[in-house]
Amino acid sequence: MCGIIGIASKENVSSNIINALRKLEYRGYDSAGIAINTAKKINQRKVKGKLDNLIYALQKDQFDGNTGIGHTRWATHGEPSDKNAHPHSSTSVSLVHNGIIENAAELKKSEEVKDYHFESDTDSEVITALLTFYLKEGLSHLESVQKTISSLEGSYALAIIFSDSEDTIYGAKNGSPLVAGTNGVGNSIGSDSIALSSVANKVCYLEDGDITVLNKESIEIYNLEGERANREFVEIGINESEVSKGPYKHFMEKEIHEHPHAVGETFRQFIDYDKGTITISNINLNFDKISKIYLIACGTAYYSCLVGKYYFEQYARTPVECDMASEFRYRDPVIDPNALCIFVSQSGETADTKAALDYCRKQKIQTLSIVNVKNSSIARDSDHCIYTKAGAEIGVASTKAFTAQLSVLLSLSIHLASEKKFVSVEENIKLCKEIMQAPLLLEQAIERSYSLKDTAKAIINAKGVMYLGRGTAFPLALEGALKFKEISYIHAEGYPAGEMKHGPLALIEKDLPVVCIVPPGPLFHKTISNIQEVIARGGKILMITDDETLESNSENIWEVFRLPKCPKSIEAIVYSVPIHMLAYYTAVELGNDVDQPRNLAKSVTVE
Ligand code: M6R
Repeated sequence: MCGIIGIASKENVSSNIINALRKLEYRGYDSAGIAINTAKKINQRKVKGKLDNLIYALQKDQFDGNTGIGHTRWATHGEPSDKNAHPHSSTSVSLVHNGIIENAAELKKSEEVKDYHFESDTDSEVITALLTFYLKEGLSHLESVQKTISSLEGSYALAIIFSDSEDTIYGAKNGSPLVAGTNGVGNSIGSDSIALSSVANKVCYLEDGDITVLNKESIEIYNLEGERANREFVEIGINESEVSKGPYKHFMEKEIHEHPHAVGETFRQFIDYDKGTITISNINLNFDKISKIYLIACGTAYYSCLVGKYYFEQYARTPVECDMASEFRYRDPVIDPNALCIFVSQSGETADTKAALDYCRKQKIQTLSIVNVKNSSIARDSDHCIYTKAGAEIGVASTKAFTAQLSVLLSLSIHLASEKKFVSVEENIKLCKEIMQAPLLLEQAIERSYSLKDTAKAIINAKGVMYLGRGTAFPLALEGALKFKEISYIHAEGYPAGEMKHGPLALIEKDLPVVCIVPPGPLFHKTISNIQEVIARGGKILMITDDETLESNSENIWEVFRLPKCPKSIEAIVYSVPIHMLAYYTAVELGNDVDQPRNLAKSVTVE
């Protein structure tokens, strides 16, 4: 993980570096640092903790210049501390790194760096040591970068400055994202285009093996073979309001309020307004031949896959396997050659999901990605890509990206079902009408969820929270538990309601509230029986259901939260709102850092 930035400009760069690091903080916030080349001397400051600590340190000891690099860290090798913070510098070179150098331990023992005095416990510092060695050997800056990266194994995105070159930055990439940007004032590199939005109007997504050399006037890119590469720069297309909190206290709160927009915009891509149907026309996939679907992702995106399995099996009668990306390739899966492997990711950079995608591509299996961040690695590397239209998601806890992912998976399953003639045109039209109700129902769900603030107050001292559901409400229970523990730091577990009697009922006691997701439908009464089994053992139930559930079904229930009645097809989407809101309110009530929960980062680019 980690976020890196490098800016070479006609103007002073320190405030722009800090501004970019603010936008990159979602990638890690264990420590932050900056290095600026001033009059052939590198000044640097780096401190443990969030970016605010660095800003404070810089207020006491200011420096500026026209060329600099910055870093925000998510610790992999070495605890969060001042000494392990980046940049890592010698007298001749300073660098910031995102990724993991897998052969760092061997390299540290190599002849080249045997005399180097290592100050940190990081893998990254070995890159500084190697560069320093090759410079001493008389290699040019570019040659020393080339020589150094040729010995690195693992992943890296690097921004490097040399003390004897006041205006130049070198960038290199393998496996970790690196974007180059330009505008009339200067040139820049960073971990994503959002970070570059105030210093670039055009960006270029660098490829593995690329080295870039930039100063305030020019930017050159060399490919793996060391030849000049002609890469396309495209309009950055980022709206600054997307990356600000607006009137909200937290990004997560803002993003929950954006569920209706995210879902509406995502569905809109698939609505054929002439026919009134759901039709996927923007990808060139032969749906007819698909015999099996694999849905592969991590975290919340994986839970969207679990809901997607119900969609594909119910509507398109197509067998589906869901896999956690971190496990997928290690079990040496037997993949049907006519299968479609679908990779779901908000960031499009999750290392495990990307590695699973690479595995499938090597096996020549058809791949499709469902991704939120445009031009991200997973989007670019898959055969086909459908974008969720959730807009920038900054809060580490994923919310609107989840409902947007469900929207794509639902539309895809309806399209596939129509192609395979399991869904008639009339049924497709009916489903399309239901889908069009989603944004309004989501708005109503948000409105009603404000009442969960009081529920949250009542559970902040809980020992843990159990989430239960059946059918698509089961993956929603998993999502609810993940969101809850991620930001409240209270243990939570999601379970299929029908499985409680096979073990977890033993956990039930009054200090372990149980959130039970019980939409109407064929599983309703069975779930109510499971709830009564919990109540009979002293359990305290928060039931999430709809307006039509009779009072008689909520006997002895601690709290009932009601959503507006909604069509079955979009139920999982609408029921996501109270799940996300309850986690949010609980974390706020506890005074936790909602957008940047401890130990985590938004974009998980290490395996
Ligand atoms: O960017 P991705 O969707 O690939 O990320 C996957 C997970 O890391 C992510 O969903 C994570 O679980 C969230 N923090 C959950 O809220």
